[in-house]
Amino acid sequence: MTKKIIIDTDPGVDDALAITLAFNSPELDVIGLTTVFGNVAVERSTANALILSQFSSYPVPVYQGHGQPMQRNTPNYPDFVHGADGFGNIDWPASDKQAESQHAVDFMIEQIRANPGQITLVALGPLTNLGRALEQAPDIAELVEEVVIMGGAVYTPGNVSPVAEANIIGDPDAADKVMTARWPLVMVGLDVTSQVLLSKEQTAAIARANPDQGKLLHQACDFYIDFYRNELGIPGCMVHDPLTLAYLIDPSLFELMSGPIRVANDGLAMGQTIFATAGRHYPHPGWENQPNQQVCLKVDKQRALDLVIQRLSTPTSLD
Ligand code: BDR
Ligand code: CA
Repeated sequence: MTKKIIIDTDPGVDDALAITLAFNSPELDVIGLTTVFGNVAVERSTANALILSQFSSYPVPVYQGHGQPMQRNTPNYPDFVHGADGFGNIDWPASDKQAESQHAVDFMIEQIRANPGQITLVALGPLTNLGRALEQAPDIAELVEEVVIMGGAVYTPGNVSPVAEANIIGDPDAADKVMTARWPLVMVGLDVTSQVLLSKEQTAAIARANPDQGKLLHQACDFYIDFYRNELGIPGCMVHDPLTLAYLIDPSLFELMSGPIRVANDGLAMGQTIFATAGRHYPHPGWENQPNQQVCLKVDKQRALDLVIQRLSTPTSLD
């Protein structure tokens, strides 16, 4: 059955890959893109989401969300990773479409209430919109089908500090609220996303097979892949956000563990996602009666990469 999803996003090069992958997947029905600050300011992530929405064969509305974390100032944008435009400095023409006037958080709440048990939230950026939605409408926790987030790191190092992943440290207060809410959540973090790399040769092949979508993706990935080569000495970019969609399409690609997740919100550990195995009791405060969530810890790298490349190479008809 087709899953109705809302993608909350900060495009973002790998967000662009993930959104395109979702549009090209018959298992998924993207009912809206909601935007958040993160890789770029929220106005820019909205403009980028509008560009990407044209890659869909069906209308996908865009709703602008929050431009700063729940309790802190907006962090610096990582232009050295995604470019100042979020697409690797490619100067892509703006869309002539407009964002909807409804706020992203109101859209999420309205859709979840109107479709009980049917909406999956997919979060690809800092978790501010989801945190605000829970604050505004706590009842959505038991109405949502599932929440799948790209973020965090359990047994692998962070990418912004030795322990923190970018989306989580982007709003650690919201992240803790989202991880400890009583809704079914799956964390697709660096433990798996750092394992799957996409090379320039592969993005070039995608652009040849699927020029309408692949031209932007290939050009945007050029800068992003250079960052990975120069910073980490690896021959491709990590496909963080696309793996979140891969989980929804084929969960058998992953091995998961269950248990509570908390997020450190202060000091050197700020943004760390701390995972406690389900059923283990700790005397230290903060761990009693927390809901069990699911964390992806292993991925079948080759099958996951094959899925990403196949979906990005094969558009649904764009007429
Ligand atoms: C995450 O942070 C952003 O830079 C990417 O778009 C991805 O969502 C990876 O840590
Ligand atoms: Ca992202």
